[in-house]
Amino acid sequence: MSAGQNPPVRRLADWDDARLDALAAEHDTPLYVLDLDRVRANYRRFAAAFPDANVHYAAKANTVRPALRTLAEEGAGVECASAGELQRAFDAGFDGQRVHYTAVNPPAADLDRAVELAVDHPALTITVGAEDTLDRLAERGYDGRVCLRVNPGVGAGHHEKVRTGADAKFGVPDDRAAALLGAAADRFDVVGVHAHAGSGISGDDLSAHRELVARMGDLARDAPVDLEFVDVGGGFGVPYAPDEPPLDLDAVADATRSALGAVDADLVVEPGRYLVADAGVLLTRVNTVKETPETTVVGVDAGMTALARPAMYDATHQVRRVEAAGDAADAGDAPVVEATVAGPICESADTFGEHALPAPERGDLLAVGNAGAYGYEMANHYNSRPRPASVVVDGDRSAVARRRETVADVVAVEREVTWA
Ligand code: LLP
Repeated sequence: MSAGQNPPVRRLADWDDARLDALAAEHDTPLYVLDLDRVRANYRRFAAAFPDANVHYAAKANTVRPALRTLAEEGAGVECASAGELQRAFDAGFDGQRVHYTAVNPPAADLDRAVELAVDHPALTITVGAEDTLDRLAERGYDGRVCLRVNPGVGAGHHEKVRTGADAKFGVPDDRAAALLGAAADRFDVVGVHAHAGSGISGDDLSAHRELVARMGDLARDAPVDLEFVDVGGGFGVPYAPDEPPLDLDAVADATRSALGAVDADLVVEPGRYLVADAGVLLTRVNTVKETPETTVVGVDAGMTALARPAMYDATHQVRRVEAAGDAADAGDAPVVEATVAGPICESADTFGEHALPAPERGDLLAVGNAGAYGYEMANHYNSRPRPASVVVDGDRSAVARRRETVADVVAVEREVTWA
């Protein structure tokens, strides 16, 4: 696939209005739409930039089954953060050899499940970030493949809340790593080392990335055991603002290779966002337009429960009006207003920010860009709001991959409590 056919970024403006309008009409809103062909293209571009690395998709960015299946078919591996994600990865057809489970303060049930899965899939790798977790695996009779997660002391990313690398929560201290590798080798099949700087790394963070990779290279060379791989995590950013340039993947790949230096081990990278973000939009319908002295408030049916990123990280997501077939002719003439797009949740944080919208009216369809990563995955039931449906498209085809929840789904876990 040439660069011309596979541009490094798909902007919100590039989505076909007629298609989005038809999907919203058929499936109602709020609606997540994920384009599997774009996921495929993102994977191919990424894998081409890292030709000799094993690319493991960080499933936490989007676990919708057709996306996992598409990436499995493309030859990707997968990085899972929980027993639930492991379940989804195996359901989607990844074989154990390509599955890594990153155990972060793992609840007992997750470890039980991982150890159980390793019986049927002995090539599964468990990445461990605390000595304690090694003990808990040994207690469960596990002696399989283990990767040691190291805290490299270097963090990077789009927001303080996602700069993982310097956070004591993740990984064993750098200076203890070599000794722990040696000790772990007595009990497990120690196969790799891992570190992750953070999420949403831009070109400006390249020096942090380089430093992390260099430390991992040093560790691999000093390791008292032969390692199969060095995993330098994910975090490859995508442009959220319309004028932001895409990440120069080749520059990142070059920096990674040169910083790692000569190691007799495979390189593993774990992109999440990069593979799915621009493959997805969230469609939402305007239900309220309110003029106020400060701004025009445009009320929509998706809020922070559907897409938490703006509320949680002050993240920017572009919003634009989707032109319906009937109003395409005069769309260009409508006066554009600066509007505050806000959801139905009773919180001030429930806003998608200020956006220029042509004369907003009740019933307008809006598309929220870059919603393919960490959108549905972070959706929740606050205000007892059901989660949106997810539709996948692939060429001309489209299908519901997750049905819309109802209030009945939300209340299904309730039990009548009657005191004796
Ligand atoms: N590997 C590990 C061990 C990770 O913890 C993560 C993300 C990744 C890979 C993938 O990172 P990515 O390539 O997607 O940046 N909810 C936040 C992002 C949190 C990411 C957590 N870990 C957001 O919406 O920005």
